[in-house]
Amino acid sequence: MKSHPPKPFRIRPMKPTESGVIHNLARSLSQFFPEDFIIIIDESLNKHPCLVGLLGDEIVGFLVWTLRDADTAEILWMGIKGDYHGLGLGSMLLDSIEQAMAQKGVTKLVVSTLSYTVDYKPYEKVRAFYYNRGFKSLGIQSDYYYDGVDRLILVKTLG
Ligand SMILES: CC(C)(COP(=O)(O)OP(=O)(O)OC[C@H]1O[C@@H](n2cnc3c(N)ncnc32)[C@H](O)[C@@H]1OP(=O)(O)O)[C@@H](O)C(=O)NCCC(=O)NCCS
Repeated sequence: MKSHPPKPFRIRPMKPTESGVIHNLARSLSQFFPEDFIIIIDESLNKHPCLVGLLGDEIVGFLVWTLRDADTAEILWMGIKGDYHGLGLGSMLLDSIEQAMAQKGVTKLVVSTLSYTVDYKPYEKVRAFYYNRGFKSLGIQSDYYYDGVDRLILVKTLG
């Protein structure tokens, strides 16, 4: 980790009026979220709950999630503004959803990301983020995102 964030990091549910801010934040992460993903992220924001992380009044992080069933929650999208990567903010967002889900009796948290079978450097750190926080590989779906672009499904047991 580089250092501590400059101001207290607050996490709360997204307000409906804030979806445009999340849209812009996701667009700024273009190495990770191509334009077609942005459309799906916008749709997800209309359908699923989203947590936001704020430094002062600025939204610098988001996490969209859903309940798959009584036991399993899924992180659909997560992002931290580029200037603030590596400061522990993503870990705090993740802790927050893990605690909230554990309180509901949810025992598994699932997330998908670009697979290690695809040679694309930016996602190596993303996989490290999840692995270092207790996620284990559940499997790979070949050609999931596009032809030759596989997804890795990860799961973490909560509690
Ligand atoms: C993945 C992401 C949410 C992690 O949030 P973060 O605030 O940067 O992560 P933290 O500071 O809490 O944790 C740092 C860890 O994440 C990893 N990491 C990911 N991106 C990193 C970066 N740019 N700089 C430093 N560490 C990074 C490191 O492996 C580090 O691991 P370690 O603490 O075990 O050494 C964030 O980097 C991000 O928004 N990435 C782009 C969007 C994305 O890929 N989202 C996930 C799609 S599945």
